[in-house]
Amino acid sequence: MANPSLLILAGDGIGPEVMGQVTRIIDWYGANRDMAFDVEHDLVGGAAYDKHGTPLHDDTMAKALAADAVLLGAVGGPKYDDLDFSVKPERGLLRLRKEMDLFSNLRPAQCFDALADFSSLKKDIVAGLDIMIVRELTSGVYFGEPRGIFKEGNERVGINTQRYTESEIDRVARSAFELARRRGNKVCSMEKANVMESGILWREVVQKVHDTDYPDVELTHMYADNGAMQLVRAPKQFDVILTDNLFGDILSDCAAMLTGSLGMLPSASLGAPNVDGRPKALYEPVHGSAPDIAGQGKANPIACILSFAMALRYSFDQGDEATRLEQAVEKVLADGARTADLMGEEGGTPISTTEMGDAILAALDASL
Ligand code: IPM
Ligand code: MG
Repeated sequence: MANPSLLILAGDGIGPEVMGQVTRIIDWYGANRDMAFDVEHDLVGGAAYDKHGTPLHDDTMAKALAADAVLLGAVGGPKYDDLDFSVKPERGLLRLRKEMDLFSNLRPAQCFDALADFSSLKKDIVAGLDIMIVRELTSGVYFGEPRGIFKEGNERVGINTQRYTESEIDRVARSAFELARRRGNKVCSMEKANVMESGILWREVVQKVHDTDYPDVELTHMYADNGAMQLVRAPKQFDVILTDNLFGDILSDCAAMLTGSLGMLPSASLGAPNVDGRPKALYEPVHGSAPDIAGQGKANPIACILSFAMALRYSFDQGDEATRLEQAVEKVLADGARTADLMGEEGGTPISTTEMGDAILAALDASL
């Protein structure tokens, strides 16, 4: 049987550096766990724009559609701030999400014990936190029509449209309920049904999917503004949070930051299953391209490495191997390995991107 294929799109800024450590981990699995991958590299974002004048070349799009999983680093940087909207680095990422139909975006917010002091919240509010945000990723106001800046009388008007069909809500709700069954068995769905018709429909469809097929999962509904407040008041009340594209963008940044480890969090974007049952999938760290530290060997590769762990779990059905990698990361943190972003008040000397990779590889070796 052919090896599973991975398309690596390292992107811009710190993307290539952190992805460099992921390729070492991939090689480790090939050498030690009899899990070889066929790896191909290509460009996305500003790097693709520099070479092709577009943030995602059609050939790259085709490769992404054909790969068993895509690993993405980060896109964007100040160099591209003045580009036309249609060729901005972010458009490359949005095209991948849309054309791969990656409707379910999993964003775990997990507080690592070794880092609980880094949160801006009190330690007891976040210690042990483990929630999962399921964000709808291919519809809503990000893609709804009409959109644009139009002339209306003697002034301009900016328009975006929040739009959800029943089937779009149905499929992402199912993915949240499925996930909840494998975790704490609770889903809290967030929208603004008090002011938005799309929110009323969202609430109805989520409830119906629940009552029909997932009555065993505990379901609650919350207005998204209250949800934001509850996330900083008492985040441990949540297990899975299900929400739309825009609210999910905002709530997931909030949830990530309360773990104190924004630079540590991975994500998975999953589409409908292929014929072989494997979902189309893209894995990427939640953090951005961090142009201020790019190219200096300072970046923390952990979010990107944990994104590969999610790939092992969700694309390749290797949950035990994903846990092995996650535990290796926890071990190096517990042992005190710290890149510059993780230097707390106690100070000390940070290790480099490569040294963090070395430490995680050593922990993997020790796990055998
Ligand atoms: C995210 C980012 C993206 C988004 C940007 C880079 C287009 O903020 O993945 O959360 O808004 O979805
Ligand atoms: Mg965001």
